[in-house]
Amino acid sequence: MALKAKIIGTGSYLPERVLSNGDLEKMVDTNDEWIVTRTGMRERRIARPDEFTSDMGIAAAKAALADAKMEPNEIDFIIVATLTPDYLCPNTACLIQHALGAKRAGAVDLGAACTGSLYGLAIAKSFVESGMYQNVLFIASEKLSSITNYNDRATCILFGDGAGACIISSKGSGLAVTSIHLGADGEQARLLMLPAGGCRSPASSETVINAQHYIQMAGNEVFKHAVRRMEGACKACLEAAGILERDISWLIPHQANLRIIDAIAKRFEHLPPERIYKTIHKYGNTSCSTILIALDELRKQEQVQNGEKILLTAFGGGFTWGAALLTAGVSE
Ligand code: ACO
Repeated sequence: MALKAKIIGTGSYLPERVLSNGDLEKMVDTNDEWIVTRTGMRERRIARPDEFTSDMGIAAAKAALADAKMEPNEIDFIIVATLTPDYLCPNTACLIQHALGAKRAGAVDLGAACTGSLYGLAIAKSFVESGMYQNVLFIASEKLSSITNYNDRATCILFGDGAGACIISSKGSGLAVTSIHLGADGEQARLLMLPAGGCRSPASSETVINAQHYIQMAGNEVFKHAVRRMEGACKACLEAAGILERDISWLIPHQANLRIIDAIAKRFEHLPPERIYKTIHKYGNTSCSTILIALDELRKQEQVQNGEKILLTAFGGGFTWGAALLTAGVSE
C-alpha cells in the first residue's frame, strides 16, 4: 500500500512582548491609520534579547510532539526553515535536535524565505512517502526583529517573531499532504534581500554603517509579484489535484499584507471571511512561520471536518512561491 504523508500534530510559539502600531509611531514617522489601511497589521510579537530562533523553534516543536503524542526519540529527521538562523554554522536544526534529545534524527536548515513553510512540507512529504523516514519534525522559526531596520518605516512596521511546527508521518491520522506546487525566480532576487553577511559581502564596519545587515525590500514591486505568483500557484496546485476552487473549505495565505490576502481570496468567493484564516492583525509577517502558526491555530480553534480541504499558499524572497493542498481526517 502506498505511504501517505500526514500532518499528525502541530504546535506554535509566539513571544510575549507586543509591539503595537502605537509603539511604532514613537519610533518612526508613521501612524496607526496608515499601517492598518496599507497592511492590516495592528501589532506583532518581538522576542526577548535572550530568546532566539532555536528557542522559539524548540517551544513550537514540543507543542507539536505533545499534540502528536510522540517522543523526541521517535523523530527520524528534523527540517528547520528560517532566514534568521542562530548561527550560519552550526545549523539551527542541530541546536533544536540536541535540545529536544531527538538523538536518532538527522537535522538540516532550509532557506526559502517566506515560502520555507511549503518547501519544507514538500521535502518532508517526499521523505515520508518514499519510505526513507517515518516521522519528520518540520519547524519554521524566525527572529525577524534581528534583521529589521527600526529606522526604516517602510519595512519595520511589517515584521514580527514567532515559530510553528508540525509532525509529518506515514502513521496515524491527520491532514494528508495531498498536492504541492512550488516555484522560484532568481532573476528578481534583488527586490527582496539581506545584502551583507554572506560571502559576497562579509560583515565589516562598512556593512554595519551602511545598514546592510537588515532586510531591504522594494515593497511595491514585491506586492505585484506576490499576488500574481500565489494566484498561479493555487491554480497549479488545484489542477494537479484535480479539484476546483469551490472544493476548498479553508484558505491559509502567507500573512504579508491584508490587501494581498484579499486579492487572492477573490478566487475563492464561495468562502465566508472566517474561512480565509488570518493572523496578520496580531502577529504581522513572521516570514516562513506564518502558515504553520495559522495552521496550528486553525486546527485547535476551529472545527475542521474530516474530508475538508485546506489550501496553503506563500510567496517570499528569492523569489520563491508555492501552494499546498491538505485533506483533513485521512488515516493510513
Ligand atoms: N508610514 C507612513 N507612510 C509610509 C510608511 C509608513 N510606515 N511606509 C511607507 N510610507 C509612505 C511611502 O514613503 C510613500 O510615500 P510617497 O508616496 O510620499 O513616496 C507612500 O507611503 C506609499 O508607499 P508604498 O511603498 O507605495 O506603499 P504600499 O502601499 O506599496 O505599501 C508595503 C508598502 C506595505 C510594504 C507593501 O508594498 C507590501 O506589503 N509589499 C509586499 C510585501 C510582501 O509581499 N512581502 C512578502 C515577502 S516578505 C519575506 O519574504 C520576508
